[in-house]
Amino acid sequence: MKATTRSRKAARVKMRDIAASPSKLARPKILVCSSGKGGSGKTCLTRNLAVFAAHAGLRVATIDLDPQRGLTNWYAVRPDEAVNIPNVAIPLSRLQEAMHQAEALGKLDLLVIDTPPGVDASPVEMRHLLLLADFVLVPTGQGAGDLRSVVEWMAFIRREQRPSAFVLNLTMRSAGSFDRAKQRLIEAGDLCPFDIRLYESIRVSDEIGLGVAEMKGANGLSDVRGVFTFAMHALGMKVSVDV
Ligand SMILES: Nc1ncnc2c1ncn2[C@@H]1O[C@H](COP(=O)(O)OP(=O)(O)OP(=O)(O)O)[C@@H](O)[C@H]1O
Ligand SMILES: [Mg+2]
Repeated sequence: MKATTRSRKAARVKMRDIAASPSKLARPKILVCSSGKGGSGKTCLTRNLAVFAAHAGLRVATIDLDPQRGLTNWYAVRPDEAVNIPNVAIPLSRLQEAMHQAEALGKLDLLVIDTPPGVDASPVEMRHLLLLADFVLVPTGQGAGDLRSVVEWMAFIRREQRPSAFVLNLTMRSAGSFDRAKQRLIEAGDLCPFDIRLYESIRVSDEIGLGVAEMKGANGLSDVRGVFTFAMHALGMKVSVDV
């Protein structure tokens, strides 16, 4: 028992050293965007956080585990001159193959992983993915229907003892449901202190293959920056977020 405690302590110390310099990471940190609800912003979060990481100087890649390939379609319209972010597109049912392909990309600091809306088809792989994750972000809208399914999803993640947090997305802060949603989520798990408001520029950035960090004067930049800062902190990565 004592030995276990000592080795855990040693691992924590080692992790702190590594976190001080992302370029020395032995293996990439794995950030999974996952939610029990379709359309909650998993893909939006994945691409915007990856763009932020790339501009912050991290070696970042993404994995698109959704057979619908929303993330991969975004790459297809990404301008040639935009910063390169490698992407692996393999469905969740072939998780192991996806991870091998990501490994073949070379040394990375961060892997951001997008997941399909329903995991009923591949529950075993989803559980494996959660076990690989260093942090899980669970985006959700502020409506009652959204909350019901993400609260259930969070219970599953917490049963697996994975570090995780909700992120409110597509928000309308002036609506009464916003505060009610925050209250409901705080009762069910950790909540990212930054939400991402519903902005047309976020939708437009999706259509033109950019992240909000790459669109001059885009609304939503400070919201995404807040979530990125939170995620980096949760992963123990010290990066400058002056994007
Ligand atoms: N904060 C936001 N403001 C405006 N539009 C947004 C925002 N977040 C997401 N969207 C848009 O909402 C739609 C759904 O978002 P997204 O595709 O990221 O959800 P998802 O959870 O990946 O969906 P699915 O479960 O179908 O994969 C997209 O058109 C996206 O561009
Ligand atoms: Mg998606």
